[in-house]
Amino acid sequence: MSLELVQRVGRIREAVAGARRSGARVGLVPTMGALHAGHGSLIDRARAECGCVVVSIFVNPLQFDRRDDYERYARTLPADLDFCRERGAGLVFAPAPEEIYPGRQRVYVDAPELSEYLCGMYRPGHFRGVATVVAKLFNIVQPDRAYFGEKDAQQLAIIEALVKDLNLPVEIVPAPTVRESDGLALSSRNTRLSPEERRSAAAIYRALSAAASWLEAGGKPREARQAAMDILGGEPLLRVEYLEVVDPGSMRPVDEFRGPVRIAAAVWAGETRLIDNVRCAGPAG
Ligand code: PAJ
Repeated sequence: MSLELVQRVGRIREAVAGARRSGARVGLVPTMGALHAGHGSLIDRARAECGCVVVSIFVNPLQFDRRDDYERYARTLPADLDFCRERGAGLVFAPAPEEIYPGRQRVYVDAPELSEYLCGMYRPGHFRGVATVVAKLFNIVQPDRAYFGEKDAQQLAIIEALVKDLNLPVEIVPAPTVRESDGLALSSRNTRLSPEERRSAAAIYRALSAAASWLEAGGKPREARQAAMDILGGEPLLRVEYLEVVDPGSMRPVDEFRGPVRIAAAVWAGETRLIDNVRCAGPAG
């Protein structure tokens, strides 16, 4: 399977226009690289549904609130290209920062209401950076469908709102979180964990699952949250930044469990920040 690496906006537009002329549906998988099986599941889904699959690989400076995090972010383009080739993607769009931000960015996309809680509260400007770069990628690539992981649930809610509120002609396809055998959600940041931190990190999913079981058994969000916090409290290497039961559309914490919710957490393991969430459908019975 041939794969073309594209670094220029003009060329990706041309390549996508060619694919579309030949009748292919265009699927975009936006990523920041350091690809793993979580990204792979998005590429597989795009391949199953679209004749032309574009994977974008761009470590977006606008969405990092800490410079050291931006600089330390894993950049593994040669391995990522092999990964995309093996998964059957046709185009990789990996522009340099100057190609995406040739001058000072004067116009931003912001979703303040959806950024009030969870990650938005602890990473000011993060979702503005995400929404702005995703809007740019949509305008550059002009995909029919774009694929996002539920692992980043708040990001997904914001992208869904971006498309709806700005009438962008892109269909957003959410995909379930891919996990390690002990439940830890795959993330490019997992490679930074020490063996001890890695072992402790498995408690995050255990805690979220315990909270979900609590809700399903008729417990209140407050109690479910406490059950999860008790599990994480037993792990000295972990520090909870937030853990909340939220409405999946508004991303606001809920007091009562009526409809579907997400239980979402950000947890530090040493210097590494990990996020995860699980869905909980509604009170059983
Ligand atoms: P990145 O963290 O590289 O993630 C790219 C996509 O892969 C996102 O949609 C994310 O939710 C999904 N993903 C990551 N880990 C996953 C897992 N374990 N299971 C399933 N999907 C997973 O998210 C970003 O990049 C950026 O913010 C981006 C949207 C590219 C904008 O810069």
